Amino acid sequence: AITRHYKFDVMLQDVTRLCKTRSTVTVNGKFPGPRIVAREGDRLLIEVVNHVQNNISIHWHGIRQLRSGWADGTAYITQCPIQTGQSYVYNYTIVGQRGTLWWHAHISWLRSTLYGSLIILPKLGTPYPFPKPHREVPIIFGEWFNADPEAIINQAMQTGGGPNVSDAYTINGFPGPLYNCSSKKNTFVLKVKAGETYLLRLINAVLNEELFFSIANHTLTVVEVDAVYVKPFDTETLLIAPGQTTNVLLKTKPRHPNAKFFMSARPYVTGQGTFDYSTVAGILEYEVARKTIQSSHSTKKLPIYKPNLPPINDTSFATNFTSKLRSLASAEFPANVPQKFDRQFFFTVSLGTIPCSKNHTCQGPNGTKFAASVNNVSFVMPTNKDLLEAHYFGQSTGVYTPDFPISPLIPFNYTGTPPNNTMVSNGTKLVVLPFNTSVELIMQDTSILGAESHPLHLHGFNFFVVGQGFGNFDPKKDPGNFNLVDPVERNTVGVPSGGWVAVRFLADNPGVWFMHCHVEVHMSWGLKVAWVVLDGKLSNQKLLPPPADLPEC
Ligand code: C2O
Repeated sequence: AITRHYKFDVMLQDVTRLCKTRSTVTVNGKFPGPRIVAREGDRLLIEVVNHVQNNISIHWHGIRQLRSGWADGTAYITQCPIQTGQSYVYNYTIVGQRGTLWWHAHISWLRSTLYGSLIILPKLGTPYPFPKPHREVPIIFGEWFNADPEAIINQAMQTGGGPNVSDAYTINGFPGPLYNCSSKKNTFVLKVKAGETYLLRLINAVLNEELFFSIANHTLTVVEVDAVYVKPFDTETLLIAPGQTTNVLLKTKPRHPNAKFFMSARPYVTGQGTFDYSTVAGILEYEVARKTIQSSHSTKKLPIYKPNLPPINDTSFATNFTSKLRSLASAEFPANVPQKFDRQFFFTVSLGTIPCSKNHTCQGPNGTKFAASVNNVSFVMPTNKDLLEAHYFGQSTGVYTPDFPISPLIPFNYTGTPPNNTMVSNGTKLVVLPFNTSVELIMQDTSILGAESHPLHLHGFNFFVVGQGFGNFDPKKDPGNFNLVDPVERNTVGVPSGGWVAVRFLADNPGVWFMHCHVEVHMSWGLKVAWVVLDGKLSNQKLLPPPADLPEC
Protein backbone atom coordinates (compact mmCIF):
# COMPACT_ATOMS: atom_id res chain seq x y z
CA ALA A 1 0.00 0.00 0.00
CA ILE A 2 1.20 3.49 -0.77
CA THR A 3 0.23 7.11 -0.14
CA ARG A 4 -1.19 8.94 -3.15
CA HIS A 5 -1.26 12.71 -3.38
CA TYR A 6 -3.85 14.68 -5.33
CA LYS A 7 -4.43 18.40 -5.59
CA PHE A 8 -7.92 19.71 -6.31
CA ASP A 9 -7.95 23.37 -7.29
CA VAL A 10 -11.60 24.40 -7.21
CA MET A 11 -11.80 27.09 -9.89
CA LEU A 12 -14.03 28.63 -12.51
CA GLN A 13 -13.71 27.42 -16.07
CA ASP A 14 -15.71 28.27 -19.20
CA VAL A 15 -17.48 25.15 -20.45
CA THR A 16 -19.50 25.01 -23.69
CA ARG A 17 -22.35 22.57 -24.33
CA LEU A 18 -25.61 22.91 -26.32
CA CYS A 19 -24.20 26.10 -27.95
CA LYS A 20 -24.01 27.76 -24.56
CA THR A 21 -20.85 28.79 -22.74
CA ARG A 22 -21.05 29.03 -19.01
CA SER A 23 -18.54 29.86 -16.32
CA THR A 24 -18.56 26.62 -14.32
CA VAL A 25 -17.24 25.65 -10.91
CA THR A 26 -14.76 22.85 -11.63
CA VAL A 27 -11.89 20.94 -10.11
CA ASN A 28 -8.65 21.77 -11.97
CA GLY A 29 -10.68 23.25 -14.84
CA LYS A 30 -12.11 19.84 -15.75
CA PHE A 31 -15.76 18.94 -16.33
CA PRO A 32 -16.40 16.25 -15.11
CA GLY A 33 -13.60 16.48 -12.57
CA PRO A 34 -10.38 14.45 -12.40
CA ARG A 35 -10.40 10.70 -11.85
CA ILE A 36 -8.84 9.33 -8.70
CA VAL A 37 -7.27 5.89 -8.97
CA ALA A 38 -5.96 4.04 -5.94
CA ARG A 39 -5.64 0.52 -4.61
CA GLU A 40 -7.27 -1.14 -1.66
CA GLY A 41 -5.17 -0.32 1.41
CA ASP A 42 -3.74 2.92 -0.03
CA ARG A 43 -3.83 6.18 1.80
CA LEU A 44 -5.13 9.23 -0.04
CA LEU A 45 -4.05 12.79 0.66
CA ILE A 46 -6.17 15.15 -1.38
CA GLU A 47 -5.53 18.84 -0.94
CA VAL A 48 -8.58 20.89 -1.88
CA VAL A 49 -7.93 24.59 -2.49
CA ASN A 50 -10.95 26.86 -2.88
CA HIS A 51 -10.43 29.61 -5.50
CA VAL A 52 -14.15 30.36 -6.03
CA GLN A 53 -16.68 32.49 -4.18
CA ASN A 54 -18.77 29.49 -3.06
CA ASN A 55 -18.12 27.54 0.12
CA ILE A 56 -16.87 24.05 -0.76
CA SER A 57 -16.65 20.57 0.66
CA ILE A 58 -15.85 17.34 -1.18
CA HIS A 59 -17.35 13.98 -0.19
CA TRP A 60 -15.87 10.59 -1.14
CA HIS A 61 -19.11 8.77 -1.77
CA GLY A 62 -19.04 5.19 -0.46
CA ILE A 63 -15.64 5.37 1.24
CA ARG A 64 -16.21 4.02 4.72
CA GLN A 65 -13.87 6.48 6.47
CA LEU A 66 -13.17 4.08 9.32
CA ARG A 67 -12.50 6.35 12.35
CA SER A 68 -11.62 9.15 9.90
CA GLY A 69 -14.98 10.92 9.78
CA TRP A 70 -13.17 14.27 9.53
CA ALA A 71 -12.42 13.36 5.92
CA ASP A 72 -16.00 12.49 4.97
CA GLY A 73 -16.46 15.95 3.43
CA THR A 74 -20.10 16.54 4.38
CA ALA A 75 -20.58 20.26 4.95
CA TYR A 76 -21.93 21.05 8.43
CA ILE A 77 -22.09 17.34 9.28
CA THR A 78 -18.40 16.35 9.45
CA GLN A 79 -16.69 19.68 8.73
CA CYS A 80 -17.33 23.36 8.25
CA PRO A 81 -17.04 24.32 4.60
CA ILE A 82 -13.75 25.30 2.97
CA GLN A 83 -14.19 29.04 2.45
CA THR A 84 -12.81 31.14 -0.38
CA GLY A 85 -9.02 31.18 -0.29
CA GLN A 86 -8.83 28.32 2.22
CA SER A 87 -7.66 24.76 1.76
CA TYR A 88 -8.10 21.44 3.50
CA VAL A 89 -6.34 18.11 3.08
CA TYR A 90 -8.66 15.09 3.00
CA ASN A 91 -6.63 12.30 4.58
CA TYR A 92 -7.96 8.76 4.65
CA THR A 93 -7.05 5.14 4.10
CA ILE A 94 -9.10 2.77 1.97
CA VAL A 95 -9.76 -0.23 4.20
CA GLY A 96 -11.33 -3.42 2.85
CA GLN A 97 -12.91 -1.80 -0.20
CA ARG A 98 -12.29 -2.06 -3.92
CA GLY A 99 -14.46 -1.10 -6.86
CA THR A 100 -16.10 1.94 -8.39
CA LEU A 101 -16.98 4.87 -6.17
CA TRP A 102 -17.03 8.58 -6.85
CA TRP A 103 -16.49 11.97 -5.29
CA HIS A 104 -18.72 15.02 -5.35
CA ALA A 105 -19.24 18.39 -3.68
CA HIS A 106 -21.42 18.01 -0.59
CA ILE A 107 -22.76 21.51 -0.14
CA SER A 108 -25.63 23.33 -1.77
CA TRP A 109 -26.15 21.92 -5.30
CA LEU A 110 -22.52 22.24 -6.31
CA ARG A 111 -22.28 18.54 -7.04
CA SER A 112 -24.05 19.39 -10.29
CA THR A 113 -20.62 20.27 -11.71
CA LEU A 114 -18.14 19.12 -9.05
CA TYR A 115 -17.90 15.35 -9.39
CA GLY A 116 -15.61 12.63 -10.67
CA SER A 117 -14.84 8.93 -10.42
CA LEU A 118 -12.94 7.29 -7.58
CA ILE A 119 -11.62 3.95 -8.75
CA ILE A 120 -10.23 1.52 -6.21
CA LEU A 121 -8.32 -1.34 -7.76
CA PRO A 122 -7.79 -4.58 -5.85
CA LYS A 123 -4.51 -5.01 -3.99
CA LEU A 124 -1.58 -5.62 -6.31
CA GLY A 125 -1.68 -9.19 -7.61
CA THR A 126 -5.28 -9.80 -6.51
CA PRO A 127 -7.48 -10.71 -9.48
CA TYR A 128 -11.11 -9.79 -10.03
CA PRO A 129 -13.61 -12.60 -9.41
CA PHE A 130 -14.44 -12.41 -13.14
CA PRO A 131 -12.40 -12.59 -16.38
CA LYS A 132 -9.77 -9.89 -16.66
CA PRO A 133 -11.13 -7.13 -18.90
CA HIS A 134 -9.22 -5.89 -21.93
CA ARG A 135 -9.86 -2.32 -20.77
CA GLU A 136 -11.74 -0.47 -18.04
CA VAL A 137 -13.90 2.54 -18.82
CA PRO A 138 -15.49 4.89 -16.27
CA ILE A 139 -18.87 6.18 -17.49
CA ILE A 140 -20.39 8.98 -15.41
CA PHE A 141 -23.94 10.15 -15.99
CA GLY A 142 -24.32 13.83 -15.24
CA GLU A 143 -26.19 16.88 -16.38
CA TRP A 144 -25.66 20.09 -18.26
CA PHE A 145 -27.27 23.31 -17.13
CA ASN A 146 -27.65 26.25 -19.47
CA ALA A 147 -28.42 28.37 -16.40
CA ASP A 148 -26.34 28.66 -13.26
CA PRO A 149 -27.26 25.56 -11.21
CA GLU A 150 -26.87 27.53 -7.98
CA ALA A 151 -29.44 30.06 -9.18
CA ILE A 152 -32.07 27.41 -9.86
CA ILE A 153 -32.01 25.93 -6.36
CA ASN A 154 -34.65 28.26 -5.07
CA GLN A 155 -36.89 27.51 -7.97
CA ALA A 156 -36.56 23.76 -7.48
CA MET A 157 -37.01 24.11 -3.73
CA GLN A 158 -40.25 25.99 -4.15
CA THR A 159 -42.01 24.18 -6.93
CA GLY A 160 -43.54 20.87 -6.20
CA GLY A 161 -43.32 19.54 -9.70
CA GLY A 162 -40.60 17.52 -11.30
CA PRO A 163 -37.36 19.20 -10.47
CA ASN A 164 -35.56 18.41 -13.68
CA VAL A 165 -33.92 21.73 -14.08
CA SER A 166 -31.03 20.70 -16.26
CA ASP A 167 -31.07 21.00 -20.04
CA ALA A 168 -29.44 17.69 -20.88
CA TYR A 169 -28.19 14.49 -19.35
CA THR A 170 -24.57 13.76 -20.09
CA ILE A 171 -22.20 10.81 -20.42
CA ASN A 172 -18.72 11.77 -19.21
CA GLY A 173 -19.79 15.40 -19.60
CA PHE A 174 -21.25 15.09 -23.12
CA PRO A 175 -24.96 15.39 -24.01
CA GLY A 176 -24.63 13.41 -27.23
CA PRO A 177 -26.32 13.67 -30.63
CA LEU A 178 -30.01 13.55 -29.61
CA TYR A 179 -30.09 17.06 -28.19
CA ASN A 180 -30.46 20.19 -30.24
CA CYS A 181 -27.27 22.05 -30.78
CA SER A 182 -25.05 19.24 -29.57
CA SER A 183 -22.12 18.70 -31.85
CA LYS A 184 -20.30 15.49 -32.65
CA LYS A 185 -17.52 16.82 -30.50
CA ASN A 186 -19.97 16.76 -27.61
CA THR A 187 -20.61 13.02 -27.88
CA PHE A 188 -18.91 10.35 -25.83
CA VAL A 189 -17.50 7.71 -28.18
CA LEU A 190 -16.22 4.42 -26.81
CA LYS A 191 -13.90 2.73 -29.34
CA VAL A 192 -13.74 -1.01 -28.85
CA LYS A 193 -12.10 -3.99 -30.48
CA ALA A 194 -14.12 -6.98 -31.61
CA GLY A 195 -14.02 -10.10 -29.44
CA GLU A 196 -12.89 -8.41 -26.22
CA THR A 197 -14.34 -7.85 -22.77
CA TYR A 198 -14.62 -4.35 -21.34
CA LEU A 199 -15.36 -3.36 -17.76
CA LEU A 200 -17.67 -0.36 -17.71
CA ARG A 201 -17.71 1.49 -14.41
CA LEU A 202 -21.08 3.28 -14.36
CA ILE A 203 -21.77 6.13 -11.95
CA ASN A 204 -25.04 8.04 -11.61
CA ALA A 205 -24.07 11.61 -10.68
CA VAL A 206 -27.29 13.29 -11.86
CA LEU A 207 -29.10 15.35 -9.27
CA ASN A 208 -32.63 14.08 -9.27
CA GLU A 209 -33.34 11.10 -11.53
CA GLU A 210 -32.86 7.36 -11.57
CA LEU A 211 -31.73 6.23 -15.00
CA PHE A 212 -32.19 3.30 -17.32
CA PHE A 213 -29.06 2.46 -19.30
CA SER A 214 -28.60 0.17 -22.26
CA ILE A 215 -26.32 -0.44 -25.23
CA ALA A 216 -28.03 -1.43 -28.47
CA ASN A 217 -27.59 -5.10 -29.48
CA HIS A 218 -25.25 -5.85 -26.57
CA THR A 219 -25.75 -7.72 -23.32
CA LEU A 220 -24.28 -6.40 -20.10
CA THR A 221 -23.13 -8.61 -17.23
CA VAL A 222 -23.55 -6.93 -13.84
CA VAL A 223 -20.62 -7.82 -11.57
CA GLU A 224 -20.51 -5.15 -8.89
CA VAL A 225 -22.65 -2.43 -7.30
CA ASP A 226 -21.48 0.32 -4.94
CA ALA A 227 -17.98 -1.19 -4.88
CA VAL A 228 -19.16 -4.62 -3.73
CA TYR A 229 -18.99 -7.68 -6.00
CA VAL A 230 -22.32 -9.32 -6.83
CA LYS A 231 -23.29 -12.67 -8.33
CA PRO A 232 -22.96 -11.97 -12.07
CA PHE A 233 -26.12 -11.79 -14.15
CA ASP A 234 -26.90 -10.72 -17.69
CA THR A 235 -29.22 -7.90 -18.60
CA GLU A 236 -30.03 -5.74 -21.62
CA THR A 237 -30.85 -2.74 -19.46
CA LEU A 238 -29.97 -1.62 -15.98
CA LEU A 239 -31.39 0.83 -13.49
CA ILE A 240 -29.10 3.11 -11.53
CA ALA A 241 -30.20 5.63 -8.90
CA PRO A 242 -28.46 8.90 -8.05
CA GLY A 243 -25.44 8.04 -5.92
CA GLN A 244 -25.23 4.43 -7.04
CA THR A 245 -22.45 2.82 -9.05
CA THR A 246 -22.64 -0.35 -11.14
CA ASN A 247 -19.86 -2.29 -12.84
CA VAL A 248 -20.76 -4.29 -15.93
CA LEU A 249 -18.82 -6.45 -18.33
CA LEU A 250 -19.42 -5.70 -22.00
CA LYS A 251 -18.44 -8.48 -24.38
CA THR A 252 -18.00 -7.13 -27.88
CA LYS A 253 -19.10 -8.98 -31.01
CA PRO A 254 -16.62 -11.57 -32.30
CA ARG A 255 -16.24 -9.70 -35.61
CA HIS A 256 -16.62 -6.08 -36.72
CA PRO A 257 -20.43 -5.71 -36.98
CA ASN A 258 -20.43 -3.02 -39.69
CA ALA A 259 -22.58 -0.85 -37.47
CA LYS A 260 -22.36 1.63 -34.63
CA PHE A 261 -24.42 1.37 -31.46
CA PHE A 262 -25.94 3.96 -29.18
CA MET A 263 -25.44 3.61 -25.46
CA SER A 264 -28.32 5.53 -23.94
CA ALA A 265 -29.68 6.62 -20.62
CA ARG A 266 -32.93 8.27 -19.71
CA PRO A 267 -34.90 8.71 -16.51
CA TYR A 268 -37.07 6.17 -14.81
CA VAL A 269 -39.64 8.14 -12.86
CA THR A 270 -42.37 6.86 -10.64
CA GLY A 271 -43.98 10.25 -10.06
CA GLN A 272 -46.42 12.12 -12.22
CA GLY A 273 -44.55 15.41 -12.25
CA THR A 274 -43.56 17.30 -15.34
CA PHE A 275 -40.31 15.53 -16.00
CA ASP A 276 -38.04 15.85 -18.93
CA TYR A 277 -37.90 12.50 -20.69
CA SER A 278 -34.89 13.32 -22.79
CA THR A 279 -32.17 10.85 -23.53
CA VAL A 280 -28.41 11.06 -23.51
CA ALA A 281 -26.56 8.94 -26.02
CA GLY A 282 -22.96 7.95 -26.48
CA ILE A 283 -21.64 5.79 -29.28
CA LEU A 284 -20.04 2.36 -29.18
CA GLU A 285 -17.78 2.19 -32.19
CA TYR A 286 -15.78 -0.84 -33.31
CA GLU A 287 -12.24 -0.20 -34.43
CA VAL A 288 -11.29 -1.62 -37.78
CA ALA A 289 -8.51 -4.15 -37.41
CA ARG A 290 -5.35 -3.17 -39.28
CA LYS A 291 -5.42 -5.96 -41.82
CA THR A 292 -8.98 -5.17 -42.88
CA ILE A 293 -8.36 -1.48 -43.35
CA GLN A 294 -8.17 -1.92 -47.11
CA SER A 295 -11.54 -3.65 -47.15
CA SER A 296 -14.94 -2.06 -47.60
CA HIS A 297 -15.19 -0.77 -44.03
CA SER A 298 -15.93 2.88 -43.92
CA THR A 299 -16.82 3.56 -40.31
CA LYS A 300 -18.31 6.94 -41.22
CA LYS A 301 -21.32 5.64 -43.10
CA LEU A 302 -22.21 2.73 -40.82
CA PRO A 303 -25.82 2.40 -39.63
CA ILE A 304 -26.48 3.29 -35.99
CA TYR A 305 -28.62 1.01 -33.80
CA LYS A 306 -30.54 2.38 -30.85
CA PRO A 307 -31.33 0.40 -27.70
CA ASN A 308 -34.87 -0.25 -26.52
CA LEU A 309 -35.10 1.36 -23.13
CA PRO A 310 -38.02 0.29 -20.94
CA PRO A 311 -40.96 2.67 -20.91
CA ILE A 312 -40.80 5.48 -18.39
CA ASN A 313 -42.37 4.26 -15.17
CA ASP A 314 -41.65 0.56 -15.80
CA THR A 315 -41.88 -0.45 -12.14
CA SER A 316 -41.92 -4.17 -12.82
CA PHE A 317 -38.63 -3.88 -14.70
CA ALA A 318 -37.16 -1.93 -11.78
CA THR A 319 -38.35 -4.44 -9.19
CA ASN A 320 -37.18 -7.39 -11.23
CA PHE A 321 -33.76 -5.82 -11.77
CA THR A 322 -33.11 -4.98 -8.12
CA SER A 323 -34.25 -8.43 -6.99
CA LYS A 324 -31.42 -9.97 -9.04
CA LEU A 325 -28.73 -8.18 -7.07
CA ARG A 326 -27.09 -10.65 -4.66
CA SER A 327 -23.81 -10.60 -2.77
CA LEU A 328 -21.18 -13.09 -3.91
CA ALA A 329 -21.27 -14.59 -0.40
CA SER A 330 -18.25 -16.73 -1.22
CA ALA A 331 -15.39 -17.89 1.00
CA GLU A 332 -13.22 -15.10 -0.36
CA PHE A 333 -15.94 -12.46 -0.35
CA PRO A 334 -18.29 -13.41 2.48
CA ALA A 335 -21.49 -11.52 3.17
CA ASN A 336 -21.20 -10.57 6.83
CA VAL A 337 -24.91 -10.00 7.30
CA PRO A 338 -25.82 -9.33 10.93
CA GLN A 339 -27.92 -12.40 11.77
CA LYS A 340 -29.48 -10.64 14.75
CA PHE A 341 -30.08 -7.02 15.56
CA ASP A 342 -29.73 -5.06 18.81
CA ARG A 343 -31.89 -2.16 17.70
CA GLN A 344 -34.70 -1.96 15.19
CA PHE A 345 -35.75 1.33 13.64
CA PHE A 346 -38.75 2.15 11.53
CA PHE A 347 -38.37 5.32 9.45
CA THR A 348 -41.10 6.82 7.33
CA VAL A 349 -39.69 8.77 4.42
CA SER A 350 -42.09 11.28 2.94
CA LEU A 351 -42.60 14.34 0.90
CA GLY A 352 -45.03 16.76 2.51
CA THR A 353 -45.56 20.37 3.42
CA ILE A 354 -44.81 22.65 6.35
CA PRO A 355 -46.26 26.02 7.30
CA CYS A 356 -44.54 28.78 5.43
CA SER A 357 -42.41 31.38 7.15
CA LYS A 358 -42.24 34.97 5.98
CA ASN A 359 -38.86 34.63 4.28
CA HIS A 360 -39.98 31.84 1.98
CA THR A 361 -42.06 31.87 -1.14
CA CYS A 362 -44.96 29.59 -0.39
CA GLN A 363 -45.74 27.59 -3.46
CA GLY A 364 -47.15 24.58 -1.65
CA PRO A 365 -50.90 24.14 -1.16
CA ASN A 366 -52.77 26.32 1.41
CA GLY A 367 -49.94 28.62 2.43
CA THR A 368 -47.35 25.93 2.92
CA LYS A 369 -43.98 25.14 1.45
CA PHE A 370 -42.72 21.76 0.35
CA ALA A 371 -40.80 19.70 2.85
CA ALA A 372 -39.48 16.20 2.97
CA SER A 373 -39.03 14.34 6.21
CA VAL A 374 -37.97 11.22 8.03
CA ASN A 375 -40.42 10.26 10.80
CA ASN A 376 -42.04 13.64 10.19
CA VAL A 377 -38.88 15.57 11.02
CA SER A 378 -37.55 17.79 8.28
CA PHE A 379 -33.84 17.94 9.05
CA VAL A 380 -32.28 21.36 9.50
CA MET A 381 -28.56 21.75 8.79
CA PRO A 382 -26.58 23.50 11.53
CA THR A 383 -24.83 26.70 10.44
CA ASN A 384 -22.47 27.64 13.26
CA LYS A 385 -20.67 24.36 13.80
CA ASP A 386 -20.48 20.92 12.20
CA LEU A 387 -22.13 18.03 14.02
CA LEU A 388 -18.96 15.95 14.27
CA GLU A 389 -17.06 18.69 16.10
CA ALA A 390 -20.05 19.37 18.32
CA HIS A 391 -20.14 15.67 19.21
CA TYR A 392 -16.38 15.19 19.60
CA PHE A 393 -15.93 18.19 21.88
CA GLY A 394 -19.17 17.56 23.79
CA GLN A 395 -20.67 20.86 22.61
CA SER A 396 -23.97 19.79 21.18
CA THR A 397 -25.99 22.51 22.98
CA GLY A 398 -27.44 24.82 20.38
CA VAL A 399 -26.21 22.61 17.54
CA TYR A 400 -28.23 19.40 17.73
CA THR A 401 -30.42 17.33 20.03
CA PRO A 402 -30.02 13.54 20.41
CA ASP A 403 -33.77 12.97 20.33
CA PHE A 404 -34.68 11.81 16.86
CA PRO A 405 -38.21 10.40 17.25
CA ILE A 406 -38.19 6.62 17.07
CA SER A 407 -41.63 5.55 16.04
CA PRO A 408 -42.90 2.19 17.19
CA LEU A 409 -43.48 -0.47 14.58
CA ILE A 410 -47.17 0.09 14.14
CA PRO A 411 -49.08 -1.11 11.14
CA PHE A 412 -50.36 2.00 9.45
CA ASN A 413 -51.77 2.63 6.04
CA TYR A 414 -49.11 4.75 4.41
CA THR A 415 -50.35 4.23 0.91
CA GLY A 416 -53.52 5.11 -0.92
CA THR A 417 -55.45 8.10 0.35
CA PRO A 418 -52.97 10.55 1.83
CA PRO A 419 -53.24 10.41 5.60
CA ASN A 420 -53.93 13.68 7.32
CA ASN A 421 -50.44 14.23 8.70
CA THR A 422 -48.60 16.11 6.00
CA MET A 423 -47.45 18.71 8.53
CA VAL A 424 -43.94 18.01 9.66
CA SER A 425 -41.70 19.77 12.15
CA ASN A 426 -38.16 21.10 11.74
CA GLY A 427 -35.19 20.05 13.77
CA THR A 428 -31.57 18.92 13.98
CA LYS A 429 -32.36 15.67 15.74
CA LEU A 430 -29.87 12.81 15.81
CA VAL A 431 -30.02 9.09 16.54
CA VAL A 432 -27.36 7.92 19.02
CA LEU A 433 -25.96 4.39 18.81
CA PRO A 434 -23.44 2.68 21.10
CA PHE A 435 -20.39 1.29 19.29
CA ASN A 436 -21.00 -2.04 17.51
CA THR A 437 -24.79 -1.82 17.70
CA SER A 438 -26.28 -4.16 15.17
CA VAL A 439 -29.06 -2.23 13.45
CA GLU A 440 -32.11 -3.22 11.47
CA LEU A 441 -33.68 -0.27 9.72
CA ILE A 442 -36.97 -0.39 7.87
CA MET A 443 -37.68 2.55 5.62
CA GLN A 444 -41.26 3.02 4.53
CA ASP A 445 -42.25 5.43 1.77
CA THR A 446 -45.50 7.12 2.69
CA SER A 447 -46.42 8.54 -0.70
CA ILE A 448 -48.13 11.41 1.07
CA LEU A 449 -47.28 13.75 -1.76
CA GLY A 450 -46.30 12.60 -5.19
CA ALA A 451 -45.00 9.12 -5.79
CA GLU A 452 -41.27 8.90 -6.14
CA SER A 453 -38.71 6.40 -5.03
CA HIS A 454 -36.02 7.64 -2.69
CA PRO A 455 -32.42 6.45 -3.09
CA LEU A 456 -31.36 6.55 0.55
CA HIS A 457 -27.60 6.88 1.06
CA LEU A 458 -25.82 6.16 4.33
CA HIS A 459 -22.38 7.64 5.00
CA GLY A 460 -19.73 5.67 6.89
CA PHE A 461 -21.19 2.20 6.28
CA ASN A 462 -22.36 -0.30 3.75
CA PHE A 463 -25.62 -2.01 4.61
CA PHE A 464 -27.24 -5.26 3.55
CA VAL A 465 -30.59 -4.99 1.78
CA VAL A 466 -32.40 -7.86 3.50
CA GLY A 467 -35.94 -7.16 2.30
CA GLN A 468 -38.03 -5.00 0.04
CA GLY A 469 -41.70 -4.79 -0.84
CA PHE A 470 -44.64 -2.73 -1.95
CA GLY A 471 -47.44 -1.44 0.24
CA ASN A 472 -47.07 -1.28 3.99
CA PHE A 473 -44.33 -3.16 5.79
CA ASP A 474 -45.95 -5.93 7.80
CA PRO A 475 -43.93 -6.59 10.98
CA LYS A 476 -45.61 -9.98 11.44
CA LYS A 477 -45.19 -11.37 7.96
CA ASP A 478 -42.35 -9.64 6.12
CA PRO A 479 -39.33 -10.40 8.36
CA GLY A 480 -39.89 -14.12 7.76
CA ASN A 481 -38.93 -13.56 4.12
CA PHE A 482 -35.76 -11.58 4.78
CA ASN A 483 -32.64 -12.75 2.96
CA LEU A 484 -29.90 -13.15 5.56
CA VAL A 485 -27.71 -15.32 3.30
CA ASP A 486 -26.67 -13.33 0.23
CA PRO A 487 -28.42 -9.93 0.29
CA VAL A 488 -26.77 -7.21 -1.76
CA GLU A 489 -24.41 -4.97 0.20
CA ARG A 490 -24.36 -1.32 -0.81
CA ASN A 491 -24.35 2.31 0.34
CA THR A 492 -27.42 3.63 -1.51
CA VAL A 493 -30.74 1.82 -1.84
CA GLY A 494 -34.01 2.82 -3.45
CA VAL A 495 -37.00 2.97 -1.13
CA PRO A 496 -39.69 2.11 -3.67
CA SER A 497 -42.53 4.50 -4.20
CA GLY A 498 -45.40 3.24 -2.04
CA GLY A 499 -43.20 0.51 -0.60
CA TRP A 500 -40.48 -0.25 1.91
CA VAL A 501 -36.95 -1.56 2.20
CA ALA A 502 -35.21 -3.24 5.14
CA VAL A 503 -31.46 -2.97 5.70
CA ARG A 504 -29.03 -4.20 8.33
CA PHE A 505 -25.64 -2.83 9.30
CA LEU A 506 -23.16 -3.00 12.16
CA ALA A 507 -22.43 0.41 13.69
CA ASP A 508 -18.68 -0.24 13.96
CA ASN A 509 -17.52 3.19 12.79
CA PRO A 510 -17.50 5.91 15.47
CA GLY A 511 -18.46 9.39 14.32
CA VAL A 512 -21.42 11.33 12.98
CA TRP A 513 -22.87 9.92 9.79
CA PHE A 514 -25.30 11.52 7.45
CA MET A 515 -28.11 9.57 5.82
CA HIS A 516 -30.19 11.19 3.13
CA CYS A 517 -32.12 10.82 -0.04
CA HIS A 518 -29.64 11.22 -2.92
CA VAL A 519 -32.30 13.00 -4.96
CA GLU A 520 -30.92 16.48 -4.43
CA VAL A 521 -34.23 18.30 -4.26
CA HIS A 522 -35.58 15.86 -1.65
CA MET A 523 -32.44 16.29 0.41
CA SER A 524 -32.83 20.07 0.21
CA TRP A 525 -36.43 19.74 1.35
CA GLY A 526 -35.20 17.91 4.46
CA LEU A 527 -35.16 14.18 3.66
CA LYS A 528 -32.09 13.56 5.77
CA VAL A 529 -31.05 12.43 9.23
CA ALA A 530 -27.76 11.88 11.06
CA TRP A 531 -26.52 9.07 13.29
CA VAL A 532 -24.02 9.44 16.10
CA VAL A 533 -21.99 6.28 16.66
CA LEU A 534 -20.21 6.47 20.02
CA ASP A 535 -16.62 5.39 20.58
CA GLY A 536 -15.91 1.83 21.63
CA LYS A 537 -13.85 0.96 24.71
CA LEU A 538 -10.68 -0.14 22.93
CA SER A 539 -8.24 2.42 21.59
CA ASN A 540 -8.77 1.20 18.02
CA GLN A 541 -12.52 1.74 18.35
CA LYS A 542 -12.36 5.49 18.80
CA LEU A 543 -12.73 8.37 16.41
CA LEU A 544 -9.32 9.93 15.73
CA PRO A 545 -8.80 13.56 16.76
CA PRO A 546 -9.55 16.26 14.17
CA PRO A 547 -6.72 17.36 11.87
CA ALA A 548 -5.15 20.76 12.51
CA ASP A 549 -6.34 22.24 9.21
CA LEU A 550 -10.03 21.35 9.73
CA PRO A 551 -11.94 24.40 8.42
CA GLU A 552 -13.81 26.65 10.83
CA CYS A 553 -17.31 27.97 10.28
CU1 C2O B 1 -23.15 11.02 -2.49
CU2 C2O B 1 -24.17 12.43 1.18
O1 C2O B 1 -23.67 11.79 -0.66
